Amino acid sequence: MISMRVRMCISIGRMIFSVELHFNNQQTNVKPGLSLFEYAEALGIRVPTSCHKQGKCRECLVEIKEGMQCLSDPAPQEEHLNDGFRLSCRCRIIADAGVVRCHTMRRGDMRIESRALQLSAHQQSLQLDPAVTRDGDRIFLDGEEIERTDGPIHGLAMDLGTTTIVVRLLNLETGEIVADAAFENPQRFGGSEVMSRIHYDTTHGGKLLQRTLAGYLSHAIEEFPVDSNSIYEMVVAGNSTMRDLFFRLSVYSIGQNPYQSITELELADGRRTTTSLTESAKRLLLPLHPKARVYGLPIISGHVGADAAACMLAVDIANEERLIAIMDIGTNTELIVGNKQKILAASCPAGPAFEGGNISCGMPGLPGAIERVKINADGKIDCRVIGGGNPEGICGSGLIDLLSELLRNARMNSLGRFENGETRIDLHTNGARQIYLNEKDINELAQAKGANVAGLHIVLDEYGIGFDEIEVFYLAGGFGRHLNVEAAKRIGLIPNIDSTKILQVGNASIEGACMALLSRAKRLELENLVKRVQHCRLETHPGFFDYFVEGCQFNPVETLSLM
Ligand code: FES
Repeated sequence: MISMRVRMCISIGRMIFSVELHFNNQQTNVKPGLSLFEYAEALGIRVPTSCHKQGKCRECLVEIKEGMQCLSDPAPQEEHLNDGFRLSCRCRIIADAGVVRCHTMRRGDMRIESRALQLSAHQQSLQLDPAVTRDGDRIFLDGEEIERTDGPIHGLAMDLGTTTIVVRLLNLETGEIVADAAFENPQRFGGSEVMSRIHYDTTHGGKLLQRTLAGYLSHAIEEFPVDSNSIYEMVVAGNSTMRDLFFRLSVYSIGQNPYQSITELELADGRRTTTSLTESAKRLLLPLHPKARVYGLPIISGHVGADAAACMLAVDIANEERLIAIMDIGTNTELIVGNKQKILAASCPAGPAFEGGNISCGMPGLPGAIERVKINADGKIDCRVIGGGNPEGICGSGLIDLLSELLRNARMNSLGRFENGETRIDLHTNGARQIYLNEKDINELAQAKGANVAGLHIVLDEYGIGFDEIEVFYLAGGFGRHLNVEAAKRIGLIPNIDSTKILQVGNASIEGACMALLSRAKRLELENLVKRVQHCRLETHPGFFDYFVEGCQFNPVETLSLM
Protein backbone atom coordinates (compact mmCIF):
# COMPACT_ATOMS: atom_id res chain seq x y z
CA MET A 1 0.00 0.00 0.00
CA ILE A 2 2.86 2.37 0.83
CA SER A 3 4.67 1.64 -2.45
CA MET A 4 1.42 2.22 -4.37
CA ARG A 5 1.18 5.62 -2.77
CA VAL A 6 4.78 6.44 -3.76
CA ARG A 7 4.10 5.42 -7.37
CA MET A 8 0.99 7.50 -7.41
CA CYS A 9 2.91 10.55 -6.18
CA ILE A 10 5.47 10.10 -8.94
CA SER A 11 2.88 9.51 -11.60
CA ILE A 12 0.87 12.60 -10.85
CA GLY A 13 4.15 14.46 -10.65
CA ARG A 14 3.09 17.18 -8.25
CA MET A 15 3.29 15.87 -4.69
CA ILE A 16 6.69 16.19 -3.11
CA PHE A 17 6.02 14.48 0.21
CA SER A 18 4.22 11.21 0.67
CA VAL A 19 4.05 11.02 4.46
CA GLU A 20 0.71 12.18 5.72
CA LEU A 21 0.68 13.37 9.32
CA HIS A 22 -2.66 13.58 11.09
CA PHE A 23 -1.94 15.43 14.32
CA ASN A 24 -4.94 16.17 16.56
CA ASN A 25 -7.08 15.60 13.43
CA GLN A 26 -5.20 18.27 11.47
CA GLN A 27 -3.58 16.90 8.36
CA THR A 28 -0.37 17.87 6.61
CA ASN A 29 2.14 16.31 4.24
CA VAL A 30 5.62 16.17 5.73
CA LYS A 31 9.18 15.43 4.79
CA PRO A 32 11.34 13.23 6.99
CA GLY A 33 13.59 14.73 9.61
CA LEU A 34 11.57 17.02 11.85
CA SER A 35 10.15 15.95 15.20
CA LEU A 36 6.43 15.57 15.77
CA PHE A 37 6.68 18.50 18.16
CA GLU A 38 8.07 20.70 15.39
CA TYR A 39 5.28 19.67 13.05
CA ALA A 40 2.75 20.42 15.75
CA GLU A 41 4.20 23.90 16.08
CA ALA A 42 3.94 24.39 12.32
CA LEU A 43 0.28 23.35 12.48
CA GLY A 44 -0.37 25.74 15.34
CA ILE A 45 -1.06 22.89 17.77
CA ARG A 46 -0.02 23.59 21.32
CA VAL A 47 1.92 20.75 22.92
CA PRO A 48 2.36 20.82 26.71
CA THR A 49 5.99 21.49 27.64
CA SER A 50 8.05 22.93 30.43
CA CYS A 51 11.49 22.17 28.99
CA HIS A 52 10.97 23.48 25.44
CA LYS A 53 11.87 20.35 23.51
CA GLN A 54 14.83 19.38 25.67
CA GLY A 55 13.51 15.91 26.48
CA LYS A 56 13.44 16.67 30.21
CA CYS A 57 9.88 17.50 31.27
CA ARG A 58 8.11 14.44 29.73
CA GLU A 59 5.02 16.56 29.11
CA CYS A 60 5.03 16.56 25.30
CA LEU A 61 3.44 13.13 25.33
CA VAL A 62 1.53 11.97 22.25
CA GLU A 63 -0.42 8.81 21.60
CA ILE A 64 0.42 7.23 18.23
CA LYS A 65 -2.70 5.63 16.80
CA GLU A 66 -1.13 4.63 13.48
CA GLY A 67 2.28 4.72 11.79
CA MET A 68 4.71 3.95 14.63
CA GLN A 69 6.93 2.29 11.99
CA CYS A 70 7.37 5.70 10.33
CA LEU A 71 9.03 7.12 13.46
CA SER A 72 12.59 7.01 14.82
CA ASP A 73 13.42 4.50 17.56
CA PRO A 74 12.62 5.58 21.13
CA ALA A 75 15.23 7.86 22.70
CA PRO A 76 16.58 7.11 26.20
CA GLN A 77 14.19 9.76 27.58
CA GLU A 78 11.27 7.65 26.33
CA GLU A 79 12.17 4.42 28.11
CA HIS A 80 9.41 4.98 30.65
CA LEU A 81 6.63 4.95 28.06
CA ASN A 82 4.46 1.96 27.26
CA ASP A 83 3.56 0.94 23.70
CA GLY A 84 1.74 3.51 21.63
CA PHE A 85 3.11 6.59 23.41
CA ARG A 86 6.03 8.83 22.44
CA LEU A 87 7.56 12.12 23.49
CA SER A 88 6.86 14.34 20.51
CA CYS A 89 10.10 16.29 20.91
CA ARG A 90 12.13 13.09 20.78
CA CYS A 91 10.57 11.25 17.84
CA ARG A 92 11.12 12.13 14.23
CA ILE A 93 9.50 11.00 11.04
CA ILE A 94 12.02 8.84 9.21
CA ALA A 95 9.87 7.13 6.55
CA ASP A 96 9.58 8.36 2.99
CA ALA A 97 5.97 7.28 2.73
CA GLY A 98 3.15 6.34 5.05
CA VAL A 99 0.52 7.73 7.37
CA VAL A 100 1.04 8.81 10.97
CA ARG A 101 -1.95 9.51 13.21
CA CYS A 102 -1.28 10.92 16.65
CA HIS A 103 -2.71 13.22 19.24
CA THR A 104 -1.67 15.01 22.39
CA MET A 105 -3.50 14.19 25.61
CA ARG A 106 -6.80 15.84 24.85
CA ARG A 107 -7.85 19.00 26.54
CA GLY A 108 -10.73 21.38 26.56
CA ASP A 109 -12.87 20.14 23.73
CA MET A 110 -13.03 16.60 25.04
CA ARG A 111 -16.55 15.92 26.23
CA ILE A 112 -15.67 15.43 29.85
CA GLU A 113 -18.46 16.14 32.27
CA SER A 114 -17.47 19.01 34.47
CA ARG A 115 -20.89 19.89 35.82
CA ALA A 116 -23.45 17.78 37.57
CA LEU A 117 -27.12 18.06 36.74
CA GLN A 118 -30.21 17.63 38.88
CA LEU A 119 -28.20 17.96 42.09
CA SER A 120 -28.60 21.69 42.59
CA ALA A 121 -31.03 21.39 45.51
CA HIS A 122 -28.33 19.85 47.71
CA GLN A 123 -25.77 22.45 46.66
CA GLN A 124 -28.03 25.44 47.13
CA SER A 125 -28.65 24.48 50.74
CA LEU A 126 -24.90 24.38 51.42
CA GLN A 127 -23.69 26.76 54.15
CA LEU A 128 -20.36 28.34 53.22
CA ASP A 129 -17.84 27.22 55.80
CA PRO A 130 -14.44 26.76 54.11
CA ALA A 131 -11.21 25.93 55.92
CA VAL A 132 -9.67 29.12 54.49
CA THR A 133 -11.09 32.26 56.08
CA ARG A 134 -10.39 35.99 56.23
CA ASP A 135 -10.28 38.59 58.99
CA GLY A 136 -9.60 41.93 57.34
CA ASP A 137 -6.43 41.39 55.35
CA ARG A 138 -5.41 38.35 57.38
CA ILE A 139 -5.94 34.96 55.70
CA PHE A 140 -6.25 31.84 57.86
CA LEU A 141 -6.12 28.13 57.11
CA ASP A 142 -7.83 26.20 59.90
CA GLY A 143 -7.35 29.22 62.16
CA GLU A 144 -3.64 29.64 61.47
CA GLU A 145 -2.59 32.84 59.73
CA ILE A 146 -0.91 32.09 56.41
CA GLU A 147 -1.05 35.37 54.46
CA ARG A 148 -1.85 39.07 54.58
CA THR A 149 -3.66 40.36 51.52
CA ASP A 150 -6.78 42.18 50.40
CA GLY A 151 -7.01 39.97 47.33
CA PRO A 152 -9.55 37.21 46.73
CA ILE A 153 -9.42 33.73 48.29
CA HIS A 154 -9.63 30.78 45.93
CA GLY A 155 -9.75 27.02 46.21
CA LEU A 156 -9.58 24.12 43.76
CA ALA A 157 -11.63 20.95 43.56
CA MET A 158 -10.50 18.06 41.39
CA ASP A 159 -12.13 14.87 40.18
CA LEU A 160 -9.14 12.70 39.33
CA GLY A 161 -10.32 9.87 37.11
CA THR A 162 -8.32 7.06 35.53
CA THR A 163 -9.24 8.39 32.08
CA THR A 164 -10.26 12.01 32.58
CA ILE A 165 -9.62 14.84 35.01
CA VAL A 166 -11.81 17.81 35.87
CA VAL A 167 -10.51 20.77 37.92
CA ARG A 168 -12.74 23.55 39.18
CA LEU A 169 -11.67 26.90 40.62
CA LEU A 170 -13.97 28.43 43.23
CA ASN A 171 -14.11 31.70 45.11
CA LEU A 172 -14.12 30.56 48.74
CA GLU A 173 -15.84 33.72 50.01
CA THR A 174 -18.82 33.53 47.64
CA GLY A 175 -18.89 29.85 46.64
CA GLU A 176 -18.97 30.85 42.96
CA ILE A 177 -17.30 28.82 40.25
CA VAL A 178 -14.65 31.01 38.66
CA ALA A 179 -13.38 28.61 36.00
CA ASP A 180 -12.89 24.95 35.25
CA ALA A 181 -10.65 22.81 33.10
CA ALA A 182 -10.86 19.26 31.84
CA PHE A 183 -8.28 17.04 30.20
CA GLU A 184 -7.34 13.44 29.60
CA ASN A 185 -5.31 11.85 32.35
CA PRO A 186 -1.76 11.95 30.94
CA GLN A 187 -0.86 8.92 33.06
CA ARG A 188 -2.33 6.76 30.30
CA PHE A 189 1.21 6.08 29.12
CA GLY A 190 1.41 3.81 32.19
CA GLY A 191 -1.67 1.81 31.19
CA SER A 192 -5.37 2.46 30.68
CA GLU A 193 -6.70 0.97 33.92
CA VAL A 194 -5.73 1.03 37.58
CA MET A 195 -3.97 -2.33 37.79
CA SER A 196 -1.63 -1.35 34.93
CA ARG A 197 -0.87 1.96 36.63
CA ILE A 198 -0.14 0.18 39.90
CA HIS A 199 2.20 -2.19 38.09
CA TYR A 200 3.84 0.74 36.30
CA ASP A 201 4.36 2.78 39.45
CA THR A 202 5.68 -0.22 41.34
CA THR A 203 8.18 -1.16 38.63
CA HIS A 204 9.36 2.35 37.68
CA GLY A 205 11.06 4.64 40.16
CA GLY A 206 10.85 8.40 40.33
CA LYS A 207 7.10 8.89 40.80
CA LEU A 208 6.82 9.46 37.04
CA LEU A 209 3.03 9.15 36.97
CA GLN A 210 2.60 11.80 39.65
CA ARG A 211 5.20 14.14 38.17
CA THR A 212 3.66 13.93 34.71
CA LEU A 213 0.22 14.68 36.07
CA ALA A 214 1.56 17.53 38.23
CA GLY A 215 3.06 19.09 35.08
CA TYR A 216 -0.24 18.96 33.20
CA LEU A 217 -2.16 20.19 36.20
CA SER A 218 0.26 23.08 36.71
CA HIS A 219 -0.35 24.26 33.15
CA ALA A 220 -4.11 24.09 33.71
CA ILE A 221 -3.81 26.06 36.97
CA GLU A 222 -1.57 28.68 35.39
CA GLU A 223 -4.16 29.24 32.67
CA PHE A 224 -6.89 30.07 35.18
CA PRO A 225 -7.75 33.78 35.19
CA VAL A 226 -6.48 34.37 38.74
CA ASP A 227 -3.11 34.62 40.45
CA SER A 228 -2.27 31.04 41.47
CA ASN A 229 -0.91 32.49 44.74
CA SER A 230 -4.53 33.24 45.66
CA ILE A 231 -5.33 29.49 45.73
CA TYR A 232 -4.99 28.32 49.32
CA GLU A 233 -6.59 24.89 49.36
CA MET A 234 -7.35 22.04 47.00
CA VAL A 235 -9.70 19.09 47.53
CA VAL A 236 -9.14 15.90 45.57
CA ALA A 237 -11.65 13.14 44.77
CA GLY A 238 -10.48 10.08 42.86
CA ASN A 239 -10.44 6.33 43.02
CA SER A 240 -8.09 4.85 45.61
CA THR A 241 -5.25 4.30 43.15
CA MET A 242 -5.46 7.70 41.45
CA ARG A 243 -5.72 9.51 44.76
CA ASP A 244 -2.78 7.72 46.36
CA LEU A 245 -0.60 8.12 43.26
CA PHE A 246 -1.34 11.85 43.32
CA PHE A 247 -0.27 12.04 46.97
CA ARG A 248 2.96 10.20 46.07
CA LEU A 249 2.07 7.18 48.20
CA SER A 250 2.94 3.60 47.39
CA VAL A 251 0.01 1.93 45.62
CA TYR A 252 1.50 -1.55 45.71
CA SER A 253 -0.94 -2.81 48.36
CA ILE A 254 -3.98 -1.73 46.28
CA GLY A 255 -2.87 -4.19 43.62
CA GLN A 256 -2.52 -7.16 46.00
CA ASN A 257 -5.25 -9.14 47.69
CA PRO A 258 -7.04 -7.82 49.84
CA TYR A 259 -6.58 -4.68 47.64
CA GLN A 260 -6.24 -2.01 50.28
CA SER A 261 -4.77 1.48 50.17
CA ILE A 262 -1.80 2.07 52.42
CA THR A 263 -4.04 4.51 54.30
CA GLU A 264 -6.48 1.70 55.08
CA LEU A 265 -3.67 -0.50 56.35
CA GLU A 266 -2.37 2.29 58.56
CA LEU A 267 -5.88 2.97 59.85
CA ALA A 268 -6.24 -0.69 60.79
CA ASP A 269 -2.85 -0.56 62.57
CA GLY A 270 -3.90 2.49 64.57
CA ARG A 271 -1.28 4.66 62.83
CA ARG A 272 -3.91 7.07 61.50
CA THR A 273 -7.48 7.95 62.35
CA THR A 274 -8.83 8.46 58.84
CA THR A 275 -8.13 7.41 55.27
CA SER A 276 -8.25 11.04 54.15
CA LEU A 277 -4.96 12.74 53.32
CA THR A 278 -3.43 16.18 53.75
CA GLU A 279 -0.25 17.36 52.11
CA SER A 280 1.36 20.65 51.17
CA ALA A 281 0.79 21.76 47.59
CA LYS A 282 4.52 22.41 47.36
CA ARG A 283 5.39 18.77 48.01
CA LEU A 284 2.89 17.72 45.33
CA LEU A 285 4.68 20.06 42.87
CA LEU A 286 1.67 22.34 42.43
CA PRO A 287 2.00 26.08 41.76
CA LEU A 288 -0.43 27.27 44.45
CA HIS A 289 0.17 29.60 47.41
CA PRO A 290 3.40 28.50 49.18
CA LYS A 291 1.37 27.51 52.27
CA ALA A 292 -1.53 25.94 50.37
CA ARG A 293 -2.85 22.59 51.50
CA VAL A 294 -4.17 19.66 49.50
CA TYR A 295 -6.86 17.51 51.10
CA GLY A 296 -7.63 14.06 49.66
CA LEU A 297 -11.17 12.95 50.49
CA PRO A 298 -11.37 9.71 52.47
CA ILE A 299 -11.68 6.46 50.58
CA ILE A 300 -14.36 3.95 51.49
CA SER A 301 -12.52 0.66 51.21
CA GLY A 302 -10.38 -1.19 48.68
CA HIS A 303 -11.05 0.13 45.20
CA VAL A 304 -14.15 1.99 46.38
CA GLY A 305 -12.40 5.29 46.59
CA ALA A 306 -12.72 8.98 47.31
CA ASP A 307 -14.67 9.53 44.07
CA ALA A 308 -17.43 7.25 45.34
CA ALA A 309 -17.27 9.09 48.67
CA ALA A 310 -17.66 12.42 46.86
CA CYS A 311 -20.70 11.09 44.98
CA MET A 312 -22.32 10.19 48.32
CA LEU A 313 -21.86 13.76 49.48
CA ALA A 314 -23.26 15.15 46.21
CA VAL A 315 -26.51 13.17 46.44
CA ASP A 316 -26.77 13.77 50.20
CA ILE A 317 -27.13 10.09 51.05
CA ALA A 318 -26.37 10.86 54.72
CA ASN A 319 -29.79 12.52 54.99
CA GLU A 320 -31.68 10.38 52.46
CA GLU A 321 -34.77 8.49 53.58
CA ARG A 322 -35.44 6.86 50.20
CA LEU A 323 -33.56 3.81 48.98
CA ILE A 324 -31.19 5.07 46.31
CA ALA A 325 -28.48 3.66 44.08
CA ILE A 326 -25.54 5.50 42.53
CA MET A 327 -23.75 3.95 39.56
CA ASP A 328 -20.72 5.75 38.14
CA ILE A 329 -19.74 3.82 35.02
CA GLY A 330 -16.09 4.10 34.15
CA THR A 331 -12.89 2.11 33.90
CA ASN A 332 -13.75 1.15 37.45
CA THR A 333 -17.50 1.35 38.00
CA GLU A 334 -18.54 2.46 41.48
CA LEU A 335 -21.82 1.26 42.93
CA ILE A 336 -23.45 2.56 46.08
CA VAL A 337 -26.84 1.46 47.39
CA GLY A 338 -28.64 2.60 50.51
CA ASN A 339 -29.95 5.54 52.51
CA LYS A 340 -29.23 7.25 55.84
CA GLN A 341 -29.68 3.96 57.71
CA LYS A 342 -27.49 1.56 55.76
CA ILE A 343 -25.11 1.90 52.80
CA LEU A 344 -23.35 -0.78 50.74
CA ALA A 345 -20.71 -0.07 48.10
CA ALA A 346 -18.69 -1.98 45.53
CA SER A 347 -16.20 -1.31 42.78
CA CYS A 348 -16.48 -3.24 39.50
CA PRO A 349 -13.36 -3.73 37.36
CA ALA A 350 -15.09 -2.99 34.07
CA GLY A 351 -12.02 -1.85 32.13
CA PRO A 352 -11.89 0.88 29.49
CA ALA A 353 -14.15 -0.64 26.77
CA PHE A 354 -17.09 1.71 27.41
CA GLU A 355 -14.67 4.64 27.23
CA GLY A 356 -13.52 3.44 23.80
CA GLY A 357 -10.45 1.54 25.08
CA ASN A 358 -9.55 -1.84 23.51
CA ILE A 359 -12.22 -1.35 20.83
CA SER A 360 -11.02 -1.42 17.17
CA CYS A 361 -12.50 1.98 16.31
CA GLY A 362 -13.18 3.18 19.84
CA MET A 363 -12.36 6.68 21.04
CA PRO A 364 -13.34 8.96 23.93
CA GLY A 365 -16.35 11.28 23.66
CA LEU A 366 -14.51 13.86 21.54
CA PRO A 367 -15.47 15.78 18.45
CA GLY A 368 -15.39 13.23 15.66
CA ALA A 369 -16.83 10.41 17.78
CA ILE A 370 -20.04 8.67 16.75
CA GLU A 371 -22.30 9.21 19.75
CA ARG A 372 -25.69 8.05 18.42
CA VAL A 373 -26.58 5.18 16.11
CA LYS A 374 -29.89 4.17 14.55
CA ILE A 375 -30.61 1.33 12.16
CA ASN A 376 -33.43 2.22 9.79
CA ALA A 377 -36.09 -0.14 8.47
CA ASP A 378 -34.08 -0.59 5.24
CA GLY A 379 -31.03 -1.66 7.26
CA LYS A 380 -29.15 1.59 6.64
CA ILE A 381 -27.20 2.81 9.65
CA ASP A 382 -27.51 6.49 10.61
CA CYS A 383 -24.84 7.96 12.87
CA ARG A 384 -24.64 11.25 14.75
CA VAL A 385 -21.12 12.59 15.20
CA ILE A 386 -20.03 14.92 17.99
CA GLY A 387 -19.32 18.24 16.34
CA GLY A 388 -20.66 16.98 12.96
CA GLY A 389 -18.48 16.04 9.99
CA ASN A 390 -16.81 12.74 9.23
CA PRO A 391 -16.46 10.34 12.13
CA GLU A 392 -13.04 9.40 13.49
CA GLY A 393 -14.29 6.60 15.72
CA ILE A 394 -17.08 5.60 18.07
CA CYS A 395 -17.42 6.49 21.75
CA GLY A 396 -19.20 4.72 24.60
CA SER A 397 -22.70 6.14 24.08
CA GLY A 398 -22.45 5.27 20.36
CA LEU A 399 -21.36 1.73 21.20
CA ILE A 400 -24.35 1.24 23.48
CA ASP A 401 -26.71 2.55 20.81
CA LEU A 402 -25.14 0.32 18.19
CA LEU A 403 -25.39 -2.84 20.32
CA SER A 404 -28.98 -2.01 21.19
CA GLU A 405 -29.88 -1.42 17.55
CA LEU A 406 -28.20 -4.64 16.42
CA LEU A 407 -30.22 -6.54 19.02
CA ARG A 408 -33.46 -4.76 18.11
CA ASN A 409 -32.96 -5.60 14.44
CA ALA A 410 -31.93 -9.21 15.17
CA ARG A 411 -28.52 -8.64 13.57
CA MET A 412 -26.84 -9.73 16.81
CA ASN A 413 -28.02 -12.33 19.32
CA SER A 414 -27.94 -12.12 23.10
CA LEU A 415 -24.58 -13.93 23.11
CA GLY A 416 -23.04 -11.08 21.13
CA ARG A 417 -22.71 -13.08 17.89
CA PHE A 418 -23.69 -11.65 14.54
CA GLU A 419 -26.61 -13.24 12.76
CA ASN A 420 -26.97 -13.44 8.97
CA GLY A 421 -23.33 -14.45 8.40
CA GLU A 422 -21.94 -10.96 8.99
CA THR A 423 -18.37 -10.75 10.30
CA ARG A 424 -18.37 -7.06 11.14
CA ILE A 425 -20.69 -4.08 11.06
CA ASP A 426 -19.43 -1.19 8.95
CA LEU A 427 -20.57 2.22 10.11
CA HIS A 428 -18.64 4.55 7.89
CA THR A 429 -15.81 4.65 5.37
CA ASN A 430 -13.80 7.84 5.29
CA GLY A 431 -11.04 7.38 2.70
CA ALA A 432 -8.69 4.75 4.08
CA ARG A 433 -10.26 5.11 7.53
CA GLN A 434 -13.08 2.66 8.20
CA ILE A 435 -15.27 2.73 11.28
CA TYR A 436 -16.61 -0.68 12.20
CA LEU A 437 -17.46 -3.07 15.02
CA ASN A 438 -16.46 -6.73 15.10
CA GLU A 439 -17.22 -9.64 17.42
CA LYS A 440 -13.96 -9.18 19.30
CA ASP A 441 -15.08 -5.65 20.19
CA ILE A 442 -18.45 -6.98 21.30
CA ASN A 443 -16.67 -9.49 23.50
CA GLU A 444 -14.73 -6.65 25.21
CA LEU A 445 -17.97 -4.76 25.80
CA ALA A 446 -19.70 -7.90 27.06
CA GLN A 447 -17.00 -8.45 29.66
CA ALA A 448 -17.10 -4.83 30.81
CA LYS A 449 -20.85 -5.12 31.10
CA GLY A 450 -20.57 -8.46 32.88
CA ALA A 451 -18.43 -6.95 35.64
CA ASN A 452 -20.95 -4.10 36.16
CA VAL A 453 -23.95 -6.42 36.20
CA ALA A 454 -22.27 -8.80 38.64
CA GLY A 455 -21.63 -5.84 40.93
CA LEU A 456 -25.25 -4.74 40.73
CA HIS A 457 -26.60 -8.20 41.56
CA ILE A 458 -24.18 -8.78 44.42
CA VAL A 459 -24.74 -5.40 46.09
CA LEU A 460 -28.52 -5.77 45.88
CA ASP A 461 -28.38 -9.39 47.10
CA GLU A 462 -26.26 -8.32 50.06
CA TYR A 463 -28.68 -5.51 50.79
CA GLY A 464 -31.58 -7.96 50.53
CA ILE A 465 -33.60 -6.00 47.97
CA GLY A 466 -34.72 -6.32 44.36
CA PHE A 467 -34.15 -3.72 41.64
CA ASP A 468 -37.78 -2.57 41.82
CA GLU A 469 -37.27 -1.40 45.41
CA ILE A 470 -34.76 1.27 44.35
CA GLU A 471 -36.56 4.61 44.44
CA VAL A 472 -33.92 6.74 42.70
CA PHE A 473 -31.17 5.38 40.46
CA TYR A 474 -28.45 8.00 39.91
CA LEU A 475 -26.34 7.47 36.81
CA ALA A 476 -23.22 9.50 37.55
CA GLY A 477 -20.17 10.39 35.45
CA GLY A 478 -19.73 11.73 31.95
CA PHE A 479 -20.49 8.45 30.26
CA GLY A 480 -23.61 7.88 32.35
CA ARG A 481 -24.76 11.40 31.45
CA HIS A 482 -24.71 10.85 27.70
CA LEU A 483 -25.89 7.28 27.29
CA ASN A 484 -29.33 6.48 25.94
CA VAL A 485 -31.16 4.99 28.93
CA GLU A 486 -33.50 2.79 26.88
CA ALA A 487 -30.60 1.39 24.86
CA ALA A 488 -28.59 0.76 28.04
CA LYS A 489 -31.57 -1.08 29.53
CA ARG A 490 -32.06 -3.17 26.38
CA ILE A 491 -28.45 -4.44 26.33
CA GLY A 492 -28.46 -4.96 30.10
CA LEU A 493 -25.93 -2.36 31.15
CA ILE A 494 -28.25 -0.82 33.74
CA PRO A 495 -31.23 -2.41 35.54
CA ASN A 496 -34.51 -2.69 33.69
CA ILE A 497 -36.41 -0.39 36.04
CA ASP A 498 -38.92 2.41 35.43
CA SER A 499 -37.04 5.12 33.50
CA THR A 500 -38.60 7.87 35.62
CA LYS A 501 -36.51 6.60 38.55
CA ILE A 502 -33.26 7.03 36.61
CA LEU A 503 -31.50 10.40 36.97
CA GLN A 504 -28.49 11.12 34.77
CA VAL A 505 -26.57 13.47 37.02
CA GLY A 506 -23.23 13.90 35.27
CA ASN A 507 -20.07 14.39 37.30
CA ALA A 508 -21.31 13.99 40.88
CA SER A 509 -17.75 13.41 42.08
CA ILE A 510 -16.58 16.96 41.28
CA GLU A 511 -19.73 18.31 42.96
CA GLY A 512 -18.91 16.37 46.11
CA ALA A 513 -15.32 17.62 46.01
CA CYS A 514 -16.61 21.22 45.69
CA MET A 515 -18.95 20.73 48.63
CA ALA A 516 -16.07 19.46 50.78
CA LEU A 517 -13.98 22.45 49.69
CA LEU A 518 -16.68 24.95 50.61
CA SER A 519 -17.87 23.38 53.84
CA ARG A 520 -15.91 21.95 56.73
CA ALA A 521 -19.18 20.57 58.10
CA LYS A 522 -19.68 18.54 54.91
CA ARG A 523 -16.08 17.37 55.09
CA LEU A 524 -16.65 16.13 58.61
CA GLU A 525 -19.97 14.55 57.61
CA LEU A 526 -18.16 12.60 54.91
CA GLU A 527 -15.33 11.55 57.25
CA ASN A 528 -17.98 9.99 59.50
CA LEU A 529 -20.11 8.64 56.68
CA VAL A 530 -17.38 6.57 54.99
CA LYS A 531 -16.88 4.68 58.25
CA ARG A 532 -20.48 3.47 58.09
CA VAL A 533 -20.33 2.14 54.51
CA GLN A 534 -20.11 -1.63 54.14
CA HIS A 535 -17.86 -2.73 51.32
CA CYS A 536 -18.97 -5.66 49.15
CA ARG A 537 -15.81 -7.31 47.88
CA LEU A 538 -16.74 -8.63 44.47
CA GLU A 539 -13.43 -10.38 43.89
CA THR A 540 -14.02 -12.82 46.73
CA HIS A 541 -17.79 -13.14 46.44
CA PRO A 542 -18.84 -16.75 45.70
CA GLY A 543 -21.55 -15.62 43.26
CA PHE A 544 -19.35 -13.28 41.23
CA PHE A 545 -18.44 -15.68 38.43
CA ASP A 546 -22.02 -16.86 37.82
CA TYR A 547 -23.36 -13.31 37.82
CA PHE A 548 -20.51 -12.21 35.58
CA VAL A 549 -21.28 -14.93 33.00
CA GLU A 550 -24.95 -13.99 33.15
CA GLY A 551 -24.07 -10.31 32.80
CA CYS A 552 -21.94 -10.91 29.69
CA GLN A 553 -25.11 -11.70 27.79
CA PHE A 554 -27.06 -8.93 26.16
CA ASN A 555 -30.31 -9.36 28.07
CA PRO A 556 -32.20 -6.86 30.26
CA VAL A 557 -31.04 -6.95 33.90
CA GLU A 558 -33.83 -8.13 36.18
CA THR A 559 -33.76 -9.23 39.79
CA LEU A 560 -32.11 -12.63 39.84
CA SER A 561 -30.76 -14.40 42.88
CA LEU A 562 -28.17 -17.12 42.77
CA MET A 563 -28.04 -17.29 46.58
S1 FES B 1 9.09 19.05 25.53
FE1 FES B 1 9.81 18.43 27.47
S2 FES B 1 10.18 16.32 27.16
FE2 FES B 1 9.52 16.98 25.22
